[in-house]
Amino acid sequence: MAFQVSRRGGIDPFIVLQVLRAAGERAAAGKPVFPLQIGQPSTPAPLGAREAAKAAIDERVLGYTDAPGIEPLRRRIAQHYRERYGEEVAPERVFVTTGSSGGFVLAFLAAFDAGARVVLTDPSYPCYRNVLAALGIETVQVPTGPDTRFQPTPELLEKVEGPVDGLVVASPSNPTGSMLSPDALARLAAWCHDRGVRLISDEIYHGIAYGMEEATAAGSPSAVTVNSFSKYFSMTGWRVGWLVLPEDLTVAVEQLGQNLFLNTPTVSQYAALAAFECREELEGNVRRYARNREILLSALPAMGIGDFAAPDGAFYVYADIGHLTNDSMAFCRRLLDETGVAITPGVDFDRERGSRTVRLSYCAATEDVEAAMDLLAAFLRRAG
Ligand SMILES: Cc1ncc(COP(=O)(O)O)c(C=O)c1O
Repeated sequence: MAFQVSRRGGIDPFIVLQVLRAAGERAAAGKPVFPLQIGQPSTPAPLGAREAAKAAIDERVLGYTDAPGIEPLRRRIAQHYRERYGEEVAPERVFVTTGSSGGFVLAFLAAFDAGARVVLTDPSYPCYRNVLAALGIETVQVPTGPDTRFQPTPELLEKVEGPVDGLVVASPSNPTGSMLSPDALARLAAWCHDRGVRLISDEIYHGIAYGMEEATAAGSPSAVTVNSFSKYFSMTGWRVGWLVLPEDLTVAVEQLGQNLFLNTPTVSQYAALAAFECREELEGNVRRYARNREILLSALPAMGIGDFAAPDGAFYVYADIGHLTNDSMAFCRRLLDETGVAITPGVDFDRERGSRTVRLSYCAATEDVEAAMDLLAAFLRRAG
């Protein structure tokens, strides 16, 4: 008997995770791997967070929590907005989620009906496109380039044909690391608000910036702000993030959250609360990313890979390698097979132009980043 598999389940894979699996298989076979493929800090959760988790396991029941999260964490997140951005956010607007990924599902479901049209930039984080597709929401891909620092502008949005219900932006962005200035984000937020377009602002890389000021959309009356403990806080596997919601979405998100997830893992919430007090350790991680960034910025052009915008934040370089290949997938596979250097083909982020681009992530240990640059240079010399 043939059973049905839903069309919604037929979305594209998240290729980064497939590269991760191939790299894992190589490592399991005892071969070296230099992990520049995934945006995953090579450090564990900060010590204070790990200690808080151990204490919570020993001392608490760790049952269900209120769907929006434990009260002290919601209050601490609200305090973070006051301290960091000078923005007053009521704790009732904070909703703790299973990573930002869980936050996106809730935000998309609460903000958009099936058939709505949401604008994404090309290149952008592939799960936006894939999750929206699984939810029956149409995506409109707007190509961006170095002229707008790979970010959308009101001028680009004006050119979109047909109705627009939403816009997803990320600053710093994955895969380019480019950022929106406070002015540019404010202009986008105002453009969206005036037109009834729901802005979803992915701020998951905040805290990892190299000089440029970070701005939040949390002050906009209609935008949804998405954030996470995965990147700056180095807690990917703990699956904890948060939304700052506009007033009109708080009830919908709470009811969706109650039904879909019940709550975010309780132990992770206690660990996340403690992570806010681990600044020194976390700033040490950011200094390492800055050193690694410098290594790439000098090594890549020296080997002929110079067509990229220096990243303002996050830990990625998104480079054009059109002079080397028009099949970035095959290029990355060969590079991994022959050298153990794992990087990500651009097709994950831009299905039209990504066959000529790759993303290198530099949050790994500095020795691994240095070794990867030497191996990549030798690989290109052999190829060329
Ligand atoms: C731009 C962006 N948003 C969201 C996520 C999802 O992260 P998480 O669910 O771990 O918070 C990632 C992960 O790499 C990302 O790069």
